[in-house]
Amino acid sequence: MALRHIRKRDDLVLRRKAEPVRRFTPQLLQLLDDMAETMIEADGAGLAAPQVGISKRVIVYRDENDVFELINPVIVSSRGTAVDIEGCLSFPGLYGEVPRAEHVQATGLNREGKEIRLDVKGFLARVLQHEIDHLEGILFVDRATRLLTPAELEKLRQS
Ligand code: CO
Repeated sequence: MALRHIRKRDDLVLRRKAEPVRRFTPQLLQLLDDMAETMIEADGAGLAAPQVGISKRVIVYRDENDVFELINPVIVSSRGTAVDIEGCLSFPGLYGEVPRAEHVQATGLNREGKEIRLDVKGFLARVLQHEIDHLEGILFVDRATRLLTPAELEKLRQS
């Protein structure tokens, strides 16, 4: 395992539409392991492959208990709307209010190439939508209705 460099802000790879994974190679497994390690080291909730400079449809994300990985993820249905604060490892120090679907159903492949079906809401639904957006070259700042002010950031840091 190895840490990968996280691409920031106006790096062009963040704006590219990522390519589907077609072959399950040792390099893919290495990428998944490295992405998980990089996400945890950076204290993030999720990471998409374009953020480490790889324009492939691969994401990792986590909650308090588990790390999840998903290849070629697709949101098949979504409902409800919730607004909450989001940040992104590619935008250190920047946070904004972002409306997202409250509940999503998604599919994708695991590292063995087997189909996974997900039905998630709340925090995980938000992270999943944020990471899948990365694969389309969409960043949370595009969807944010408002960015937090320095005073609000300070408060967030203290909580
Ligand atoms: Co992000």
